[in-house]
Amino acid sequence: MKIGFFDSGKGGTSILDVVKKLLPNEEYMYIGDSENCPYGEKSDEELIKIVQANVDRLKDWGATIIVIACNTATTRCIDKLRKIYPDLKFVGTEPAVKLAIMSGVKKVLVMATPGTIKSERLLALVRDNEKQDQEVDLMACPGLADAIEKDEDIDGVLDELLKDVKEYDAVVLGCTHYSLIKNKIQRYFPNAKLIDGNEGVAKRVKIIINEK
Ligand code: DGL
Repeated sequence: MKIGFFDSGKGGTSILDVVKKLLPNEEYMYIGDSENCPYGEKSDEELIKIVQANVDRLKDWGATIIVIACNTATTRCIDKLRKIYPDLKFVGTEPAVKLAIMSGVKKVLVMATPGTIKSERLLALVRDNEKQDQEVDLMACPGLADAIEKDEDIDGVLDELLKDVKEYDAVVLGCTHYSLIKNKIQRYFPNAKLIDGNEGVAKRVKIIINEK
């Protein structure tokens, strides 16, 4: 089966690696759209145009399953994409809020791009899952995905964002770029569990392949 992936650059490779490991015999194609990075700081109109161009290319190359290996594009565009391309199967990547909450921890921080943090989809995920004795804080991280993409001053951006951060039991990495610098982020949260949704995406792809 031909499976297409896209992201605003290299972030989505953190998902591609996990999917390939679970499903080694499929055919993969990947668009790292670094030219348009960061997606998290684009307007809705700009973002859907960019995302559609990627989907069109993957479709032309024969992909029938599209993995949106980007939380920003998923939270803001997946509903529209499912309507525009009813013949394609989309698998999205959403901040793993549910996973963090279900693990029973008390204090959760969600780090994501400004676009994801203000998306209705993320707010609904928190609203629908947060338990009474739990606290879920959201943190927009402007500049972080871009710094990771360009490999420029990642430590400086992290320090600016996290130097005064509180203690948390779990930190949700709500942008696929952040999974690439897990070790650096862990230094600011020595006691927290860092969680991403990559395994969940891979399992979802497997289910769709089995259905097909
Ligand atoms: N890697 C992406 C995400 O998961 C997008 C980062 C960006 O381009 O702002 O949100």
